Formats: sequence, structure tokens, C-alpha cells
Amino acid sequence: MVLGIETSCDETAAAVVLGGTDVLSSVVASQLDQHARFGGVVPEIASRAHVEALPHVTARALEQARVDYSRIDAVAATVGPGLVGALLVGVAAAKATALALDVPFVGVNHLEAHLYAALLDAPDAEFPMLFVLVSGGHTLLVEMRDAHSYRVIGQTIDDAAGEAFDKVARFLGLGYPGGPEIDKAAQRGDDSAIAFPRAMLHDGLDVSFSGLKTAVINHVRANPGVSTDDVAASFQRAVVDVLVHKARRAAKEVGARTIALGGGVAANSLLRREMAAAGAQDSRAVVLASREMCTDNAAMIASAAWYRLARGESTPLDAGANPNLKLGTGQK
Ligand code: KG4
Ligand code: ZN
Repeated sequence: MVLGIETSCDETAAAVVLGGTDVLSSVVASQLDQHARFGGVVPEIASRAHVEALPHVTARALEQARVDYSRIDAVAATVGPGLVGALLVGVAAAKATALALDVPFVGVNHLEAHLYAALLDAPDAEFPMLFVLVSGGHTLLVEMRDAHSYRVIGQTIDDAAGEAFDKVARFLGLGYPGGPEIDKAAQRGDDSAIAFPRAMLHDGLDVSFSGLKTAVINHVRANPGVSTDDVAASFQRAVVDVLVHKARRAAKEVGARTIALGGGVAANSLLRREMAAAGAQDSRAVVLASREMCTDNAAMIASAAWYRLARGESTPLDAGANPNLKLGTGQK
């Protein structure tokens, strides 16, 4: 029974997970309204909000799971990547709780946890798996040979997919977070109206979105009367084309039986539709995690920790947070 805590960005979350996959509770308190008027996450506000929310969120997670602290076998928290001040709130709380309960503390890589989030939603998914992690901070293509080993085989060389959505939405005056707003506007627009570039489409498995963002800005400046809905639709189509194209190529290279989609951008309606269609065409299963599991939560933290504990690993109490933690290679 693992108590997981997540405070890497603007979501304060706690969850209780039994045996790695049985989610007894998953509580997420969003700070979105505290950051929205600034058009992005303000680190100092995030840290303070975590301090305020975490005790209640943790208490609620235990309550909803109908367990008390005496039943908890380990306490896990995200140690990176993320905002350092925000991470430290969860890490300090998890360590203190582990110390008080005399149980192991497990420091979890947030990106690794996103991989386990997809498995929580699809426990019977077959390996090898190609995991496409598309969030506000990351765009990664990850090969998973089994539940314990993974390898990054492609990533963005500049902006993350979600970051591109957020920056373009902001430029178009569509509000924050931009992804859902572009998704909505795109449904009213014509996605073939403007031929935006698909960068690096034919070389390797890495992606790049910064040129696309610049192309959008240049196009709108040169055509002030252009329909915002058409721009949104054409931009979204370009991002989705690239992601689906790279995912297909990567899946073929690793012989994936399954393609899994995770991270906030996995909520995008066109991306979900096109990835499902591509999977059907190539005879690969496609796991589209639920919105709750795509976005930041603590059940995925507890689950990732369980897999580490199962391999006999835990984290010393003097370990700190690492805001730049990378997703390396999972050990077996
Ligand atoms: O994974 P997430 O909740 O937070 C982290 O970045 O860790 O991802 C948030 C990102 C934001 O950039 C947001 O604009 C994007 O996911 N997003 C979307 C959609 N919903 C959220 N992007 C495109 N279409 C959506 N429907
Ligand atoms: Zn995340």
C-alpha cells in the first residue's frame, strides 16, 4: 500500500495505490485559477499553494481509500523534473511521513510515472509498447520492452508539444491553458486553410515545434484578417501530423504491439482520433489513457514507486529534488 504525493507543477495530488495497480483513491487539487491571470504557472505561487493544500489533499486521499496511516507500507513523492520549490514541498512531506511511520521513502521520476499512468488504465496492454508522452513540458517517444524497462528513442529538440499549443493560443488571444482552447477553435476552422510546415518529418524520431510556432506568428502578422479558427485548425493539424507520423515510424522500428498516449496533450481530440486510426491501419493496439490519467496525478507516482519497491529499491532520506531530472533508461 503506497501513499503517493505529486507537487511538481501546479497540481497538488495525493493517492493511495495497492499492489501497484489498484487505485484506492486519487485526489487532485488544481491551482489553475491562481495562475490563469498571469498566463502561466508562477513558481512562487505554486510552492505556497502546495504548502496550503497538501495536508488536506493527503487526508482526503487516505479517507477516500478508507485506510489510515498504519496501513501505509511506503511513501512516494515526485523528485523531478519540475519546479524546484514546488517539488520540495512534496518531497519534504513524503520524507517526514515515511520517517514518522518508519516505512521506506521512494523518490519518483515524474516522467517515469507518466508511463505507469497508461498501464494503470490498461493493465492488459501488450509489450513491446511505444509510449508517446506529450505534455506542457515534455515530448518523448519511449520504447517499453516490458513493465520495468524503457528507453527514450525520440524527443523534441526545442518546444514541447503542449508548450507550442500554449504559446500559439496566447499569441492568438485564446487564453490559458491553450491546448483545450485551440482544440475548440479548431473544430470551427478549416485545417487545410494554411499549409504550415511539418519540421523534420522525414529525419529520425526527434521532433521540433519552434519553427511551426514562428510560422503561425509570421502568417498572422502578414494576414491580419485571417480567421483565428482556421489558424488554430491548421496549426493543430500540423502538430498532430508530425506526432502521428513519428509515432508510426517509431512503433514500426521497435515492433510495438501497442502505442500508448499520455500527458496533457493526449487529451487533444484530433490527436486521439488520428492515433487510433493509425493504430487500426497498422494493426497495433492504441491505449488512450483517460483524462485523469493523462494529466498530473499522484496515483501514477504511487504506482511507479511500487514497481521500484518490487525491484528492492527505495530512496535515502537525504536525497533531494532534481528539477532537471531526465528520463533515462529503466533498469531491469
Ligand atoms: O501533462 P499536463 O497536464 O501538465 C504538464 O505539462 O505536466 O499537460 C498540460 C499541457 C498544456 O500545455 C495544455 O495546453 C495541454 O497539455 N493540453 C492540450 C489539451 N488539453 C491540455 N493540448 C492540446 N489539446 C488539448 N485538448
Ligand atoms: Zn506531467
